[in-house]
Amino acid sequence: MENPAYKVIGKSIPRVDAIAKVTGTARYPGDLSMPGMLHMKIRFAERPHARILKIDTSRAEAYPGVVAVFTAKDVPVNEYGLQQPDQPVLCGPGSDKPGADVVRFVGDQVALVVAETEEAAAAACKLIDIEYEDLPVVTDPREAMKPGAPLIHPERGDTNVCVHYKIRKGDISEGFAQADILVEGEYQLPFQEHAYLQPEAGLAYVDEEGRIVVQVAGQWTHTDQKQIAHALGLPLEKVRVIYPAIGGAFGGREDMSVQIVLALAAWKLNRPVKIVWSRRESIIGHGKRHPMYVRARWGATREGKLVAAETEVIADAGAYLYTTNKVLGNATVVHTGPYFIPHVKADVYGVYTNNLPTCAFRGFGAPQALFIAEMQMSKLAEKLGMDPVELRLKNALREGDTLAVGTTPPDPISISKVIQAAAERFGWEQRKRELSQQPPNATLRRGIGFACGFKNVGFSFGYQENCWARIELHGAEEIERVVLHHAGAEVGQGTHTVMVQMAAEALGVPVEKVTLITHDTHNMGNAGSVSASRMTFMAGNAIRGAAEMALRKWKDEERPAIGEYTYLAPKTTPFTPETGYSMPNFAYAYAAQAVEVEVDTETGQVRIVRVVAADDVGQAINPKLVEGQVEGAIVQAEGYALLENFIMKDGYVLTDQLSTYLIPTVLDAPEKVETVIVQVPDPRGPWGARGVGELPYLPLTPAVLAAIHDATGVWMHAFPVTPERLWQALQATRNP
Ligand code: MOS
Repeated sequence: MENPAYKVIGKSIPRVDAIAKVTGTARYPGDLSMPGMLHMKIRFAERPHARILKIDTSRAEAYPGVVAVFTAKDVPVNEYGLQQPDQPVLCGPGSDKPGADVVRFVGDQVALVVAETEEAAAAACKLIDIEYEDLPVVTDPREAMKPGAPLIHPERGDTNVCVHYKIRKGDISEGFAQADILVEGEYQLPFQEHAYLQPEAGLAYVDEEGRIVVQVAGQWTHTDQKQIAHALGLPLEKVRVIYPAIGGAFGGREDMSVQIVLALAAWKLNRPVKIVWSRRESIIGHGKRHPMYVRARWGATREGKLVAAETEVIADAGAYLYTTNKVLGNATVVHTGPYFIPHVKADVYGVYTNNLPTCAFRGFGAPQALFIAEMQMSKLAEKLGMDPVELRLKNALREGDTLAVGTTPPDPISISKVIQAAAERFGWEQRKRELSQQPPNATLRRGIGFACGFKNVGFSFGYQENCWARIELHGAEEIERVVLHHAGAEVGQGTHTVMVQMAAEALGVPVEKVTLITHDTHNMGNAGSVSASRMTFMAGNAIRGAAEMALRKWKDEERPAIGEYTYLAPKTTPFTPETGYSMPNFAYAYAAQAVEVEVDTETGQVRIVRVVAADDVGQAINPKLVEGQVEGAIVQAEGYALLENFIMKDGYVLTDQLSTYLIPTVLDAPEKVETVIVQVPDPRGPWGARGVGELPYLPLTPAVLAAIHDATGVWMHAFPVTPERLWQALQATRNP
């Protein structure tokens, strides 16, 4: 059936959502309204650790325009959580869940005020009288893991350590005995705020069928539905989740924010209820990227062969688990980089504290883990007097090489190809020679840095990855119209466009014939999360399966011909507890970047002049969209490396606005970003595709820090490298 006239894989067709988004007709959750709609405001804890002794809502209830005030006693099943239900929907007395009367971070939700106007809700929110008994606060995970530290979840056991992964590969002392050169590093990695342009918002109502409909921006309709239904004590069918347009997500929308409380209010009041968070509410109200404290000790031979790696990672999980187990699982798998190391020992801890919960954020722990690996590699290259690209090629994973988890990644492994592609396009050798001619005392100094990355596709670790699609073929003699049903979330990355392209290609029809129905739990199977760089891979395979089935039925003259298919990805296994041995993932993608920076040695200001990013996406379904992912990831990672200084003190957020938490603007973006699309097909991917959502984010920070070292001779062990931080480091080298 495939008609070569309609080949559309590999073509940069315009996005299917482009016109609505450019003209402003696309409706985001904050744009929604309904007749008779009420407005909600949330009273947050605003303190890091305390028991709520008493809540008095009478003054708030009496405020003109207030319709209802809800507290913990009104939540049927007062708990939720994506991985583990360790968080109360509302904290306070009157709930039958043990520990639900305690607030554990400033963004815990305590009460909901629903009123005729937003102003009334906001004013009444302040009139809720809460009596707190403060509890001891612990905010450093290194302190929190010590015996005797204040417990964040005493009801869950006698330790704050919520995750501990171990790697024991080979024999670490034997490995160090073989080493001629040691590289030791201590690193401190920061929080990062997702800073999506659209803060949390939503509308909930009860429809004609008596079902609670929640319209909200998320990453996985079906788990939102599940968590809402659980907390409300309702069967799944009583809850319908619909996503309007979504203004960015990056992992920050995987965990609940306004979903459950909106549903609760709409259900209790039987009226539409709307909420829109302010930027401050968004910043204190959702999770952040995991900060980490790291100690690493790596050994290599004189010839530059890695022989041993020993690493300890202590990650701040914050007040609740969110996806800390998943994030640290990924970090554990990739923490030795895309290199073969025979002897590896690692201990990776996630520890509860009274800080904001930490969660998924583009790369799922891989950015942090690869920062460790790539810093170690850059420092090793310096110690050996070896070119950093050459050192990486020497150790790059080849077919048959094992990762830290003791098994080989699925073939084909393309890390050497992307390293070569990035170095070649950058002109690495030539630029190195040119920059060695810089006048030694220049104030503005240039430097270059190189780093690699790789990223799993999908969740895995033994979880059976799955994705559903349905395709309807309408027409008589020929296919006139195709309807694709798929719940996968379009968070701005272009996934819906790619789905339409893949459906058109699989069916041999022009893309104009394909209509996508999406973003809904009603009448649709589970697509899985838009995260872990998985949607192109998973949706593509699901769409191919559904298309094949629909075409068979079309041939058998069924009209409409309907194919429904759930793709199951290859099986994986979880970590063996004592060694980490596992086959954790069914696919990976590989990346490398070369970066040039200019450092003002008088002010500590760093400017990224040029980035060359080589990413093996297997098959670019839509090359323009791949470029978009690469450029977006690089600017977001630039924020991580240089600008975004999220400060928490004693459990309080000091940078709770975008005026104090600086993200890159167009004026900060690197002057030049060049995308090199490498295509080594993954035989299990649809048309060979791997995944690209997180990949280009990974190498940037360590490449920038290596370039800063190249320019100044200074290794930064903590970032973001703000001008102040770098200036101080430069001063220290001048006045030792
Ligand atoms: Mo993302 S961290 O895969 O939502």
